Order: sequence, then C-alpha cells, then structure tokens
Amino acid sequence: TGLWDAKSYSDFSGVQDAMTQWWYGHNAVGFFLTAGFLAIMYYFIPKRANRPVWSYKLSIVHFWAVIFIYIWAGPHHLHFTALPQWTQTLGMAFSIMLWMPSWGGMINGLMTLQGAWDKLRSDPVLRMLVVSVAFYGMATFEGPLMSIRYVNALSHYTEWTIGHVHSGALGWNGFVTFGALYCMVPWLWKKKELYSLRLVEWHFWLASIGILFYIASMWVAGIMEGLMWRAYTDLGFLEYAFIETVSAKHISYIVRALGGTLFLLGTLIMAFNLIQTVRGRGLAEPLEGDVPLTNKPVISEPQPELVGAE
Ligand code: HEM
Ligand code: HEM
Repeated sequence: TGLWDAKSYSDFSGVQDAMTQWWYGHNAVGFFLTAGFLAIMYYFIPKRANRPVWSYKLSIVHFWAVIFIYIWAGPHHLHFTALPQWTQTLGMAFSIMLWMPSWGGMINGLMTLQGAWDKLRSDPVLRMLVVSVAFYGMATFEGPLMSIRYVNALSHYTEWTIGHVHSGALGWNGFVTFGALYCMVPWLWKKKELYSLRLVEWHFWLASIGILFYIASMWVAGIMEGLMWRAYTDLGFLEYAFIETVSAKHISYIVRALGGTLFLLGTLIMAFNLIQTVRGRGLAEPLEGDVPLTNKPVISEPQPELVGAE
C-alpha cells in the first residue's frame, strides 16, 4: 500500500466519536467565529465611534462566561441520536445559558455608542459595525432557541440551520470584518478617509438586503420542509415523498441565490473602494507629516479620556 492508499481511523468509536467531533465543531463557532470576532468588535467600535468601551467589567465577566459555557454546548448538534439523553439535555441547558453572556457582548458593543448615536447617520462604516453586533445578537438568540429539543425536532437537517449559520457568518463575521477593513486601510496607508463613503453606503445596503433575502428564504424553506417531512395522511402514511420537499424549495433557492449575489456584489464594491483608497483617489488624500498610527482617528475629533481603566 502506497501513501495514497492510507486510511484514517478515529481514536473513538460510534457516538463517542460524534461527541468528540462536535466538541471541536461547536468550539469552532465559539472560539473562531465568536471570541476572535468579539476582539475585533472591542477594538474597532470604540475606535471608530471615538468612545470608550461601555463597561470593562462586563467585558471580562461575559468573556469568561462565554468561554466556560461554550465548551458544554456541543451536544445540541446531536439531539435524537444515540448520545445519552442526559448529555443532550446538558448541551441544551448550557446552550440556553449561553444566551446571557452572548448578549452581554452585544449590549457592551451597542452601549459603547452612548453619546455617539448620531454618528450612525453620517458614518456608514460605524453603521456596518453596529449592524454586525445586531446580527450577533440575532444569531445568538436563534441558537439557544434551536437547541431546545422540541424546536430542534423541526429545525434539524433543514434549511433553517443554514439560515442560522449565515446570519452569523454573513451578518456578524462578515459585517464586522468589512467595518474593520474600512477603518484599517486608511490608517495603514496614511489617508485622511476612504476613497468614497457613498460606496460604503452602497455596500451596506446591498449586503443588508442580500442577507435578509438569504435568511428569510432559508427560514421559509426550513420550516416548510420540516413540516412536510413530518406530515402524515389519515391512513398514517407519509404525506410527501422526499423529492416533493426538495422541489417545494425551488423559489427559496432562487431568492437565496439573489441574496448571495447582492452580498457578493457589495464585497466587490468594497474591494474597489479599498484599492482606490490605497491609490489615494477621491477623499483618500494623504495625511501630512509622519503621523503615528495610534494618534490617527479617521474622524478628527479629540480622543476621550479612557474611564474605568484604573
Ligand atoms: C448562543 C449562541 C449559539 C447557540 C446556542 C447556537 C446553537 C445552534 C444549534 C442548536 C444549531 C443546530 C444544530 C443542529 O440541529 O444540527 C446550530 C447550528 C450552527 N450554528 Fe449556531 N448557535 C449559536 C451561535 C452561532 C453563531 C454566532 C454562529 C456563527 C457565527 C453559529 C454557527 C453555526 C453553524 C455553522 C451551525 C451548523 C453546524 C452544522 O454544520 O451542522 N452559531 N447552532
Ligand atoms: C455570498 C456569501 C455566501 C453564500 C451565497 C453561501 C452559500 C452557502 C450554501 C449554498 C451552503 C450550503 C447550504 C446547504 O447545505 O443547504 C453554505 C453552507 C455553509 N456556509 Fe455559506 N455562503 C456564503 C458565505 C459564507 C461565509 C462568509 C461563511 C463563514 C464565515 C459561511 C459558512 C458556511 C457554513 C459553516 C456552511 C455549512 C452549513 C451546514 O451545513 O450546516 N458561508 N453556504
């Protein structure tokens, strides 16, 4: 047997293997897609809004609560499997508890705008960052809901899960990344502003509408197919063949494709805007002198005193 015939064997068998995989699987959501992106939020929202973080105490409490609780939530991916019932219930309980520390992060991000809410009207970059936090709140409200065994009986295997994934992935991870890039590129290339804030505005609306199409179509498709799978006739036969549940999703898939296209279009507009910024076009005039990066707010206002950092 040569190198290419090598097989891979799991250390564990059966449901222990599944549980181990989902321990890693759910922690990927909790640590790659949550903790790291919260760090991005905690840096860029205060920087762009020119306000201190609302509560340092809350940030510490919710951070450690997220870390401690997330590592127990994996079993919610294995409802109605051979995993012992008590383990499923444990995962469900921890998932519901996870709602609170997640919203701790959302509240801290939103409240950092205290005294700067008016900037949402004039600054589309800040609006992008704030909407990302709102999507974070939405995805972490939906997650605990879906972890409830009774709800999961309907949502599991359906497009509802896919909708949930992308409200987190596109709404939260995507928007916070866009906001961070829009802040960082002018700083790094020492420009006064981005090439065009109007293009950011376009990106914002295209991507927002795209995500709404994506999520809404997946909710409709998911709940519909979930209900179709469990529908019985009077005689006790399944009412629908599987293929009928697939073709019923046709319109939803078209709407999702449209949503994805709008989202992608927004990203291309962003790429153009950032390239033009680097090249110093439009509003992206070079800053005079050798201004240290850290003293360079994009919106030129005096920096506030940091409170709470005794
Ligand atoms: C309080 C926080 C959250 C909880 C309790 C939670 C809970 C859940 C539940 C119950 C499922 C469905 C499992 C199934 O039926 O198979 C799920 C799926 C998923 N969630 Fe979340 N979620 C949370 C936040 C997030 C966030 C913020 C993201 C992304 C940024 C995310 C990404 C995913 C992914 C990728 C899946 C699909 C996994 C697969 O491929 O099967 N979740 N989540
Ligand atoms: C324009 C943007 C995007 C589009 C159109 C898109 C589309 C899709 C599609 C069609 C699927 C398969 C769903 C199914 O099995 O029914 C999928 C799955 C998935 N996508 Fe995306 N995606 C996009 C961006 C992203 C991003 C940015 C992330 C992560 C940050 C992501 C994470 C995932 C994950 C984790 C799954 C697996 C979900 C599961 O099977 O439970 N996607 N995506």
